[in-house]
Amino acid sequence: MKIGIVGGNGMLGCDVHALSVSSGYEVISYDLPMYDITKAGTLELIVDTADIIINCAAYTAVDKAESEQKKCYEINSRCVEKLGFLVAERRKYLVHISTDFVFGDDTDIPLNENSKVNPLGVYGKSKLEGELALQKTGAFFSILRTQWTYGVNGDNFVSKIIKAAKIDDTLKIVNDQIGSPTPTAAVSKAIMALVKNRQEGLFHFASKGYASRCEVAMFVFNEIGLSKNIIPCSSEEFITPAKRPKNSRFDCSKIDKFLPFERLVWQAYLKEFLKFYKV
Ligand SMILES: NC(=O)c1ccc[n+]([C@@H]2O[C@H](COP(=O)([O-])OP(=O)(O)OC[C@H]3O[C@@H](n4cnc5c(N)ncnc54)[C@H](OP(=O)(O)O)[C@@H]3O)[C@@H](O)[C@H]2O)c1
Repeated sequence: MKIGIVGGNGMLGCDVHALSVSSGYEVISYDLPMYDITKAGTLELIVDTADIIINCAAYTAVDKAESEQKKCYEINSRCVEKLGFLVAERRKYLVHISTDFVFGDDTDIPLNENSKVNPLGVYGKSKLEGELALQKTGAFFSILRTQWTYGVNGDNFVSKIIKAAKIDDTLKIVNDQIGSPTPTAAVSKAIMALVKNRQEGLFHFASKGYASRCEVAMFVFNEIGLSKNIIPCSSEEFITPAKRPKNSRFDCSKIDKFLPFERLVWQAYLKEFLKFYKV
């Protein structure tokens, strides 16, 4: 069985590639600059070459998306729809990755796969449009929504606050966005479980437990022994071009039923990851 990873050089794609290889699959990764999914023929080539396609490619610059709408929708919506039609036509299997940014409520109720969506910015809207379009293509697919991901192969909240803390002694961090930092290594294991079981439909996956961005930052600094002055603030006080969801609590009970491993609490995953950052 051949797996084709679209966006295979990205933060998640790299980990999915490594795990697919160690799980015994033949794997090909496709990414920029050689394989641009917006260019004619690229998606056709990918779907023709692989039996299973894992789509980790996305326009992920959440704030920049507000001023680059066309490009964002092209990659996150149009290309996903086209990929779905090709997968349906060629009778392949697709795992597509999506995000908590399809939500936008400020309750404290954990969100399951049937919860009401309400994206607040262009990135979230484009990802939702991609999900909805894919669902209408007739493809054999699953969509995995994940959140607050971090890994060794890309910039993320954890790496960014560590970088910022090396420059500034005082950091302002929001305390009203609640979710669960989730390692791309664990997301990759969840993707492999979807692939092995050929699961169909929509699934949520995140680490266990919830925390605010502020609490995550405090945990990180404590673990790596950095003494920093953190000023908690509200999202309204921390203005960014794109609004972020306040409630990113995921209910993962649907995926838990077939995962071959137990999800860990976010602190346990992060502790392990941060061993790399200790001096
Ligand atoms: N990061 C998070 O916190 C987070 C949270 C929830 C869900 N997700 C989802 O997880 C998935 C993987 O994201 P990630 O965090 O691994 O982001 P990433 O590191 O930005 O990976 C995305 C990859 O897609 C590539 N790509 C972009 N445009 C492309 C195009 N036109 N043709 C081919 N490849 C293209 C990117 O290449 P360039 O780098 O060269 O642009 C990059 O290698 C995405 O679906 C994202 O929406 C991420």
